[in-house]
Amino acid sequence: MASSARIGIGSPLSRVDGIAKVTGAAKYAAEHRPAGMLYGFAVSSGIAKGRITAIDDRAARAVPGVVEIVTHENRPRTAWLDRSHHDQVGPPGSPLRPFYDDKVMFSGQPVALVLAETFEAARHAAALVEISYEAEAHNTDFDKALAEKFLPAKKRNTFHPPKNRGDAEKAFAAAPLKVDAEYRLATEHHNPMEMHASTVEWHGDGSITVHDKTQGPQNVQAYLSSVFGISAKKIRVLNPYVGGGFGSGLRPQYHVYLTVLAATMLERSVRVVLTRQQMFTHVHRPEAVQTVRLGAEMDGRLTAILNSATTSTSRYENHMEDVVIWGMMNYACPNASGDYTIAPMDTSTSGDMRAPGAATGMALFEIAIDEMAEQAKLDPLAFRLLNYSEEDAMNGTPFTSKALREAFAEGAAAFGWDRRKAGPRTMRDGHELVGWGLATGMWDAMFSKTSASAKLSANGDLEVASALSDIGTGTYTVMTQVAADTLGLPPERITARLGDSDLPAAPVEGGSWGAASVGAAVQVACRAIGEKLLKAASSIEGKPLGSAGIDDVTFDGGRIVLKSDPAIAVEFTEAMRAADLQTIEVEETASAGISGMVSQIRKSRNTHCATFAEVKVDEELGVVRVTRIVCAVAAGRIINPKTARSQILGGVVMGIGMALHEETMMDTKLGRFMNHSLAEYHVPANADIDSIEVIFVDEPDPEVTPLGVKGVGEIGIVGTAAAVANAIYHATGKRVRSLPITIDKLQ
Ligand code: MOS
Repeated sequence: MASSARIGIGSPLSRVDGIAKVTGAAKYAAEHRPAGMLYGFAVSSGIAKGRITAIDDRAARAVPGVVEIVTHENRPRTAWLDRSHHDQVGPPGSPLRPFYDDKVMFSGQPVALVLAETFEAARHAAALVEISYEAEAHNTDFDKALAEKFLPAKKRNTFHPPKNRGDAEKAFAAAPLKVDAEYRLATEHHNPMEMHASTVEWHGDGSITVHDKTQGPQNVQAYLSSVFGISAKKIRVLNPYVGGGFGSGLRPQYHVYLTVLAATMLERSVRVVLTRQQMFTHVHRPEAVQTVRLGAEMDGRLTAILNSATTSTSRYENHMEDVVIWGMMNYACPNASGDYTIAPMDTSTSGDMRAPGAATGMALFEIAIDEMAEQAKLDPLAFRLLNYSEEDAMNGTPFTSKALREAFAEGAAAFGWDRRKAGPRTMRDGHELVGWGLATGMWDAMFSKTSASAKLSANGDLEVASALSDIGTGTYTVMTQVAADTLGLPPERITARLGDSDLPAAPVEGGSWGAASVGAAVQVACRAIGEKLLKAASSIEGKPLGSAGIDDVTFDGGRIVLKSDPAIAVEFTEAMRAADLQTIEVEETASAGISGMVSQIRKSRNTHCATFAEVKVDEELGVVRVTRIVCAVAAGRIINPKTARSQILGGVVMGIGMALHEETMMDTKLGRFMNHSLAEYHVPANADIDSIEVIFVDEPDPEVTPLGVKGVGEIGIVGTAAAVANAIYHATGKRVRSLPITIDKLQ
């Protein structure tokens, strides 16, 4: 086989799982149907706080096909040892234990599960379960909850407390230019296409297979093992296909608890699927308020940054986010301080949603920056360049790389930013006002210890595997490409496997660390295969490769090729035959300590982006159209420009939703989210999305992670909402400080 153009790292390979997904061959959690399976339907609580005083399930039990109704009164014993968290990613506090007792902590809490021979019977019967409550006074009003705001002593390990510098209060008081305003973000709910669901196969020998909608099969396995007291060896969790997550599937959610509870109680296979409305009964992005005070000299140089933010959480867990640190890190400013608290409400616990903390805090901060640029009579881009920080200004550490300047330049050129007219209401297109806005985005470039296996068969086929998930981000494809790149095999000869708790250890898929982490693991595993192949080749008669070591050869087209003389090559299959090997199998782990990760100086690891937005506003109707977005991203090495672009497109679309549409409204009297359907909870539809241009700027960074990859799953959302909000101001002269910017706010 001649040396061909390698389809490895950097090539725009189409998703290797794409055909399975669009033809329906890919099976999701709720599409498995083990023999004798029962259907479960959850009953959601009708009050926000109090206790259950009586359950009348007679009418429900009379429905033909109903097998059992599980509540706190008849549930089997579980093994919860305490109320500490039982999963890798849960926040500090006491997690929801469904059916543990008669207590109701939030509206929509599961209080009963009806099990029936058909889904229809279960759902109908669920409507007939009569539950009586003794209600207690609740508070689901965020503004009232602010009176109780606090910062817990026990922080989640991903939380970074703000580090203050200088004397921000004093500098702010003395500053000739000031911005001092309050900014808000509404509650948002995750709405992945695939609802949360589990199908549990009961095998009759004490073991179960759990097809779960999750972002972390091993995390769910560990959770189930600890709460049900079943050995992890007897629980296999599968999630080879996930119809979107956005963070909603980072934690094991109550659907999987209910399904396993019912399966173990009835000793039968069970499936539970949440309805779209029930998707609004658990995790959501917290509601947020952020006060930003900025001080600057007359020439626009920032002298003071004061960020103070509060986000909502439940009364039983303390969900915390990095909200206030981003602007403090991103801008050169001698004085900065941040203050962050959470406010407990009688709702389910808020949680991570695409770029948690940054999407909120950076968006709100970047609106304030736009206000300060205007005061300083500077173009928003010139203002950002004037206050550009080469290093992480909060931690005083260098970045492994920060090509934000290049992102500004390339984004501005693509957008045509230099044609922007200064001042609001200066641009028009027929009856519509035109506005151009800009914002900066920032996210973490994380790496998480991950293992992968690789198995080369005698026919030259390679399988790579890791217990990571592909939540739609392209992980299968990334694994395939890294393997193809490392061993010089065509992608068609490679199978990537993931989404199975039996596979080598991997974290939950989140935080944009998937590609960097599993990419590194697959690479080390494939290198180990290469070493073994080379050793096998020494069994070939006449030793054609001589005493060549791993650095003396390349792998290309299924052959080991001598670097010094490419005419000398050995087929993988020939080497394996000579050594009498049917397969070569390895498992390796990539951890933060490997190749180039150890730095003498502590460095900050971040992605950046510059997002430019054009809006057109019909003043008479108040309708805003986002007609153009250019998002220039600095995210280190891009493994696949096609799937990476798709990630940025998705992030930008979600950012447009954050700017204009997404908002879960609370009925504070009932203590319940009101608009719990896609009819009333608005996400951008196709008609809302126009031109989106994605640019990846060159940002070589051998230090950040082993492959130089920073991750792109989240950065696209950060900055988009502020860019749109700033564009709306430029169009209309109306400064709206609360997202989403709905029509009523523009009247
Ligand atoms: Mo993401 S919020 O880490 O799934």
